[in-house]
Amino acid sequence: MKNPIPKHIAIIMDGNGRWAKIQGFKTRIRGHEIGVTALRNAATHASEIGVKYLTVYAFSEENWSRPKSEIDALMSILVRSLSNELETLQKNGIRLNAIGNLDSLPRKCNKELQETIKATSANNLMTLTLALSYGSRQEILIATKSIVNKVLDGRLKIDDINDISFSKELSTYDLPDPELMIRTSGEQRISNFLLWQSSYAELVFLPVLWPDFSRVHLEDAISQYQKRNRRLGKTSDQIEMNE
Ligand code: FPP
Repeated sequence: MKNPIPKHIAIIMDGNGRWAKIQGFKTRIRGHEIGVTALRNAATHASEIGVKYLTVYAFSEENWSRPKSEIDALMSILVRSLSNELETLQKNGIRLNAIGNLDSLPRKCNKELQETIKATSANNLMTLTLALSYGSRQEILIATKSIVNKVLDGRLKIDDINDISFSKELSTYDLPDPELMIRTSGEQRISNFLLWQSSYAELVFLPVLWPDFSRVHLEDAISQYQKRNRRLGKTSDQIEMNE
């Protein structure tokens, strides 16, 4: 084993619609509902094994182009889950956090979200970040505009723009970069998720559809990560000398 348990895992939860179709459900919604159970299990297991940050792609900027009926269903699942899952979050010491264009969420959603974030703010075993109405390119553009404004009004020097100061402008300013990014459903792409933050993340693509994701899959992904050679730009000789 080359690496310890990752401190931060990011997950692209994919395959809810396909799962619902395979199971014979008339709509894709059942896949999202069971997806919530899979997320609960993944979050509690991750916190039990010592993961400190779990960030999940729950709704992308691009997902707004889905049929209105599916968007409405997803938003009401979100509202329902936030109140239903509060007890699980508290019991497991999980702090809820959210990134993305939260102002574009229905008012009720955002209100429930802010209340749950506040109610769990003292929990410190793990931070669960929901990426909602999130797009990484949009996030990078917002950060760039903020930096330009700081330079224009003299609060920042051009020479002080570096990867540390840039990271501080992103919505993930208070999270370490993920060491492991998992995508379910067999698709092998990042789809505008944490592009800056995952520069050095190990990518693990699993064929399992998200509603079927269980602790076995989480452990499989972590074990693949633990066997990877993470050289971070160094040579293998340098890594061996430090072991
Ligand atoms: C991708 O599957 C999944 C989503 C777009 C939504 C993820 C949401 C959940 C897991 C629900 C739980 C989270 C919250 C915060 C309510 P897909 O619909 O793209 O599936 P497909 O690729 O098979 O069509």
